[in-house]
This record gives sequence, C-alpha cells and structure tokens, in this order.
Amino acid sequence: WGGNGHAIVADIAEARLTPAAARQVADLLALEGHQTMDQVASWPDTIGHIPHDKGGAPETLPWHYVDIDVDAPAYAAADCPDRNCVVERLPELARVLGDAHAPRAKRLVALKWVVHLVGDLHQPLHAAERDHDKGGNMVKVSYFGETRNGHLNLHSLWDEAILEHETGLATGPHYSIDLARARHEADLLNAAITPGQAAAWAPQGLPGSLDATVTAWANESHALARDVTYADLPKTGNALGDAYDQAAWPVIQVRLEQAGVRLADVLNAALPAPVPTL
Ligand code: ADE
Ligand code: ZN
Ligand code: ZN
Repeated sequence: WGGNGHAIVADIAEARLTPAAARQVADLLALEGHQTMDQVASWPDTIGHIPHDKGGAPETLPWHYVDIDVDAPAYAAADCPDRNCVVERLPELARVLGDAHAPRAKRLVALKWVVHLVGDLHQPLHAAERDHDKGGNMVKVSYFGETRNGHLNLHSLWDEAILEHETGLATGPHYSIDLARARHEADLLNAAITPGQAAAWAPQGLPGSLDATVTAWANESHALARDVTYADLPKTGNALGDAYDQAAWPVIQVRLEQAGVRLADVLNAALPAPVPTL
C-alpha cells in the first residue's frame, strides 16, 4: 500500500487494541516522540531506497512481499529465497516485538515493521505475480484515461490509485499524507466491520506461532490476485476504468479491514498485560 493504506490499517488496529497493548505501543512509540501507529506505518518504505552508508536498509526491500506465481496453487517455501520475504519476516519481527527481554529500541523497530507488513501482506499483489511482472510493477495501465506520466502500473493502482480515486485521499511528495483524513476513512471502514467478521478473521494459533497464519494470509492475497486483480484485466490494452474499479474497490476495502483487525490481534497477543507478581 501507499501511505494512506498503511495509515488506515494502523488506525483500524489502534482502535482495537487492549488497554495493555495500547499502553505498551504508546510507550514504544514515545521513544521517538510519536503518539500513534499511523505516524510510523510507512517508515519501512522510506528506508528501502536509501543506501546503507546514508542510513538506509536496501536489504529489507524483499521483506515487503512474496512473489507467488499466479498460476501456482499456493505459497511454497521456494517462493521465499533465503527466508527473505514477508511470510518469514513478519512472524520473526512479531517475536522480537513480543520479547520483553529485547532492547526497547529494537522492539520499536519491530513494531514499525509489524504494523507495515501485516498491511502489505493483505494487498493481493504483494503475494502474487504473473510472468515475473514483480507483483504488477511491470504492467503499465491507464486508469480513467490517466497514466500519471506513464508511472501508473497495476501494482501502484492497487497500492494507491484506486483508494485515492474512491476516497479523495492524496499522497504528496516524500510519502506525505493527511493523517486526519486517513483517520476519517479508517473510522468509516472500522465502523462497517461486524463482530462476526472480526471473529471470523482472527488469526489462529495466538498467542504462540504466527507462521501458519501468515501463510494463510499470503494465500488469500494470492487467490484474490488470481480471481480479481489479474482475472478482471481486459484481454488487451489495460485501459482500466469503471468496470475494473467496481471489481477492485470492494476487495481493497475488505483487505484494509482484515489487515486492521488482524494487526490488532497480533499486537494484543504480542503485548499482553503483565502478570502481577505476588
Ligand atoms: N518487487 C518484486 N515483486 C514484488 C511484489 N510482489 N510486490 C512489491 N514489490 C515487488
Ligand atoms: Zn506495494
Ligand atoms: Zn511496503
């Protein structure tokens, strides 16, 4: 997702934290003078394209996605070379966050990554590709006649353009967004989530292992990419508009909602209330 999608996921989760998790999240965020998770939700995207000697972390670029061929039945371990993809990194980072003995600065970094990666894993194209198109990054598209100077592609359409078209949210230079407006959209999505949905979406196996759950989320994204993202492309031309929008927008809404609910569940499990000492 772009900045707005990540902020929306963080906001939905923030509203669903237990008091114990909310307090620990706030304490970690305060180490850098932040108050809310939406303020840090896009930080991992800012460090990937900065070289090491300038304080960046280009080696983390593959952590944001897993390339599962759209024609494959499901995720396989070979899709995660050197265990360097979101399916392996997300559970590992959640373990660091939940490790009360780890240095607090390290746990804050893990928190920022967990907030970000639960979001990214729910974007269908972060778990699928067709003909090695890098999750749609190589597929040029137009959208209601616009190409954003030729920069619009299938991936950025799903990360940002459809959400912006439907909500009026916008992204400025250097990932800048209007957090108040993103919070408003998050409130609308959050209010539409029924208790039954939230229960049905809950990750299995918590507290404990996230590994199988994260694989299931990757497979959901992969199936949506196959059945909607790629299936609804026109046979030729990739000039997209109303018809594509009507197929994609409901999927994007539910994936942002699911990511928010599940992020809260992950954080609530990683950051339980301290056991009182007698
Ligand atoms: N780069 C290569 N594959 C990608 C994907 N699926 N999503 C985002 N970036 C990628
Ligand atoms: Zn993306
Ligand atoms: Zn990302």
